Amino acid sequence: MKIAVVKERAEGETRVAATPETVKKFKALGAEVAVESGAGASASIADADYAAVGAEVSADAVRGAGIVLGVQGPDPAALAAAAPGAWVVAGLDPFGQRGRIDAYAAAGLEALAMEFMPRITRAQSMDILSSQSNLSGYKAVIEAANLYGRAFPMMMTAAGTISAAKAFVMGVGVAGLQAIATARRLGAQVSATDVRSATKEQIVSLGAKPIFVESVAGIEGEGAGGYATEMSEEYQKAQAELVSGHIAKQDIVITTALIPGRAAPRLISDAQIASMKAGSVIFDLAVAQGGNVEGSKADEVVVRHGVKIFGYSNTPATLPADASALFARNLYNFLSAFWDKEQGQPVLDAEIGEAVRLTQGGKVVSPRLLG
Ligand code: NAI
Repeated sequence: MKIAVVKERAEGETRVAATPETVKKFKALGAEVAVESGAGASASIADADYAAVGAEVSADAVRGAGIVLGVQGPDPAALAAAAPGAWVVAGLDPFGQRGRIDAYAAAGLEALAMEFMPRITRAQSMDILSSQSNLSGYKAVIEAANLYGRAFPMMMTAAGTISAAKAFVMGVGVAGLQAIATARRLGAQVSATDVRSATKEQIVSLGAKPIFVESVAGIEGEGAGGYATEMSEEYQKAQAELVSGHIAKQDIVITTALIPGRAAPRLISDAQIASMKAGSVIFDLAVAQGGNVEGSKADEVVVRHGVKIFGYSNTPATLPADASALFARNLYNFLSAFWDKEQGQPVLDAEIGEAVRLTQGGKVVSPRLLG
C-alpha cells in the first residue's frame, strides 16, 4: 500500500497531513510513503526530514497511491494518477465543497471526511475537529490579548493598580474550554455561556463563571453526538437579553459557536457591540462559517463603535507546527486502528466507515449529504 502526502494548495493553508513521526509509524505498518516536495515547508518540516525517515519525496507523490492524505481536500484533477478507487483522507468540508465531493465520486475515488468522525470514546484520538479546535481556542485568546490595549492580569505597581480584564467566552465546546483555560492562565476574570446546559459544570471546574438562562425550562440544547441543536425562539430571546447585559461589561469576548452543517449562529449584534467600552476586543472564531458577530470579516480587524473585531479564516493554520503534528497523529490513529496486516491496508468497520465515507463506487453515499 502506497500512502501519498500532498502539498496543500488552498490559500493560507500552512499545515501538512503527515510529519516525520507519522511517516515512520506508517512505514512500520508496512506501508510505502511518498511526500510531495515542499509539503512540510510552511510547518517547518524540510523534504530532507521526510527522506530521513524513509519517505520518497517527489513532485509526483500521488502516482499509484492507494491512500492520499491531505489537510484540506486536494483538487480531484491532481489525483488522476492515484490508484483506481484510492482513498482521499482529509478535512473535506463536505457541506461547503459539495462540487468537489461530486468530482471525487465521478473519478471513482473513495473520499473519507475526517470531520465526520463520530464522537465516540474510541474515536477521540482520530478527531481532527477536537485537535484543531483546541489550538484555535488558545490562539483566539492570545490574539485578542495582542489586540487589546491593556493587560490581562491585575497588577499592583508603585504607580497604581491595573484591574484584571473581563473575558467572556460564548460557546463552550473544545475551543471554548481551551479559551477559558488560556484566559484564566493570563489572569483575566472569565465567564462563559453555551446553549448546552451540560457545559455549566465544565465552566465552573475551570474556575470561570457560567452565564445561563435559567428561566426557560426543559431546554438541554444538546442533540446527537454532543453537538448543539438549534434553539427555540423563546430561548434565543431570553439568552440574548441575559447576554446583552453581560457583554456591555466585558473587555474581551471570544465567540466559538457552531452548529454542524449550518451557518454559524449570530450571537452578537451591532447594538450589543455599541454597548461595549471602546478598546474592547471581540474574537470571532466562527468567522469562516458566517460569523457569530455582526460585521466581522475574516483576517481583517474591523473597528465598530471603538471595539476591535477580528477572526482568522483558518485559525489552526496560524500554529502550523503543532496543528500539523496533531492532525497527522489523528490520521495515523485512524488508519492504524483499522490496519489489516494480512491485506496490508486498512479495513474500516461499519460504525466509523459509514460515518466518514462520502463517496464509493462512483457515487455519493454519505446519508448526511444525501438526506
Ligand atoms: P462545536 O464546535 O460544534 O460548537 C462549539 C460550541 O458552541 C458548542 O459547545 C455548542 O454547544 C456551542 N453553541 C452552539 N450554538 C450556540 C449558541 N447559540 N450560543 C452559545 N453556544 C452555542 O462543538 P465542539 O467543540 O466540537 O464540541 C461539542 C461537544 O462534543 C463537546 O461536549 C465535546 O466535549 C464533545 N466532543 C466529544 C468527542 C468524542 O467523544 N470523541 C470529540 C469532540 C467533542
